[in-house]
Amino acid sequence: MKKILVTEAVTGAAMDQLRASSDLEVALEPDLWRDPDALARAIQTADALIVRNQTQVTADLIQTAPRLQIIARAGAGLDNVDTDAASAAGIVVSSAPSENSLSVAELAIGLFLALARHIPSANQDVQEGNWNRTRFTGSELSGKTLGIVGAGRIGTLVAQRAKAFGMTLIVHDTFVDPHAPQYAGLDLSFVEMDELLSRSDFVTVHLPLLPETRGLFTSALFEQMKPTAYFVNTSRGKVVDEAALAHALDQGCLAGAALDVREVEPPSPGNPLAGSDRVIFTPHIAAFTREAQERVVAAVCRDASAVLRGDEALGYFNFARPKRAFT
Ligand code: MLT
Repeated sequence: MKKILVTEAVTGAAMDQLRASSDLEVALEPDLWRDPDALARAIQTADALIVRNQTQVTADLIQTAPRLQIIARAGAGLDNVDTDAASAAGIVVSSAPSENSLSVAELAIGLFLALARHIPSANQDVQEGNWNRTRFTGSELSGKTLGIVGAGRIGTLVAQRAKAFGMTLIVHDTFVDPHAPQYAGLDLSFVEMDELLSRSDFVTVHLPLLPETRGLFTSALFEQMKPTAYFVNTSRGKVVDEAALAHALDQGCLAGAALDVREVEPPSPGNPLAGSDRVIFTPHIAAFTREAQERVVAAVCRDASAVLRGDEALGYFNFARPKRAFT
């Protein structure tokens, strides 16, 4: 029987249905990503691998998987999968590229509001028995300038929602066509990064992790922001140099930040931003809504079972069918 190895917590109705299949065995081992040796042993007999973002699917791991036909990533980013090595081995790589975009966009909007209205610190203060109303005077989003770095699916969804809040939208993305139909009616101004940073009241990042985006946000960029501005990252932690952000916050180059993603996840206790009261932290939950997870889990279960049954993966990144023979 073909075996699907699941190395992180990928659960829900579609997974239950997959586990009930009579022709496929599902090994659901949500903590296996923590133990590379056990993972390397388990993958030797796997025909499909389902992961989130914590399993490091390296070239070495792929070499130890002679039967593997598909790596299905329950999420959008493929930065934890060596896609070149998988493609060279003839293994399908598939993902759920748009299934969680709306949830990520909504969290970004939530973080703008949380920063602008000091919601986490006001909550903390009331929990401590206080009632300090003027201390938490905030600002409206309406009339403020939002700088969107990365105008792909998520950046565009953020733009649509921010427009409804009455924000002025400026965008930096050198890979997209500013005249593409999805931008019609959004009143976006495409600008250089320098201009975006110096004009924005909120900067929101929606970039994939690529060699050219790794460590992009350094001191030189934070120093160009307004001292009253906020920085929000719901994309990938490694696009930000956290030591540079901590220094910029200390120097008053910007007013605050909200980070759903971190350079190292989970962050080590001694990381440069540990304990910062100018930053709102969430534990990489942008995609964690019931709706998004239902869509994401359905997509990866569909692709894993399709490939093992000789059909095509729909969310494929490289090719729809494996290029190695079934054993
Ligand atoms: C994604 O890439 O889809 C999100 O960041 C969620 C995740 O990494 O699992």
